[in-house]
Amino acid sequence: MKVTPYSENCGAVVSELQLATLDDNQLAELRAVFAEYGLLFFRDQDLPPQEHLRFAQRFGTIVVNKFFKTSEESPLIAEVRKEKDQQTNIGGGWHTDHSYDEIPALGSILVARTLPTSGGNTQFANLAAAYDAMPDDLKKRIEGLRAIHSNKHLYGENGLYRLTDLASQLGGMDRVGDATHPVVIRHPESGRKVLYVNPGHTIQFEDWDFAESRKLLDELYMHVAQPQFTCSFNWLPGSVTFWDNRCTWHQADNDYQGQMRLMHRITLQGSELAAA
Ligand code: SIN
Repeated sequence: MKVTPYSENCGAVVSELQLATLDDNQLAELRAVFAEYGLLFFRDQDLPPQEHLRFAQRFGTIVVNKFFKTSEESPLIAEVRKEKDQQTNIGGGWHTDHSYDEIPALGSILVARTLPTSGGNTQFANLAAAYDAMPDDLKKRIEGLRAIHSNKHLYGENGLYRLTDLASQLGGMDRVGDATHPVVIRHPESGRKVLYVNPGHTIQFEDWDFAESRKLLDELYMHVAQPQFTCSFNWLPGSVTFWDNRCTWHQADNDYQGQMRLMHRITLQGSELAAA
């Protein structure tokens, strides 16, 4: 297995490895690489849906998204689908999958199934590197805080997604909910301190005024979205991405209107997040 950093702070490309046929030693090595980088890119994989499932189940326990349609092949595989005539895409703004759950997701494994001829990249941000590089006074201001994460504003009644042409693909309106998490967590595997708030799902700080929360959240978001903490991945047939939801954000570019894009996503169950 060969591991090559993708950019200064953002991800690594794992080559000379097939996810469908890795042995137990390679799986152990991959776990260590995943803990180190939190974002792995693979090219030229032969990973049909049953192998996608098998790899995910070897790595962890699958948790099904409450809102997305699932694939024909398995109720454990979520579809991230944009039809040719659809304007809105899923995940078009920075977010962390499932941060609105009490037990948030460990990670997500995304496999390209149908790609536009160009565009449709996924962008990522590294929240451990962003935390490390934060000015000390900003670190002080967020010390000990907790934040409320939700999905109601997106998937609830009159939620943003329900008002778009994505609505017919979504279920789960009755399964919306909130959770609170520490704003700075200790990553369970790497032991690093990580900023755990995201623009998609974090609503405000617990016991804070909404407007004051927004000001500080925006300051944090501007810090994270700087080029030195982010990268963009261009999908090709056979590409797979595996990201750690405890230490990354991602967003999908919506720059291929008139073309279809279909991805298969499997999300893995994490554990309760502890404050750093
Ligand atoms: C997602 O938000 O999980 C989708 C990412 C993508 O479609 O690139």
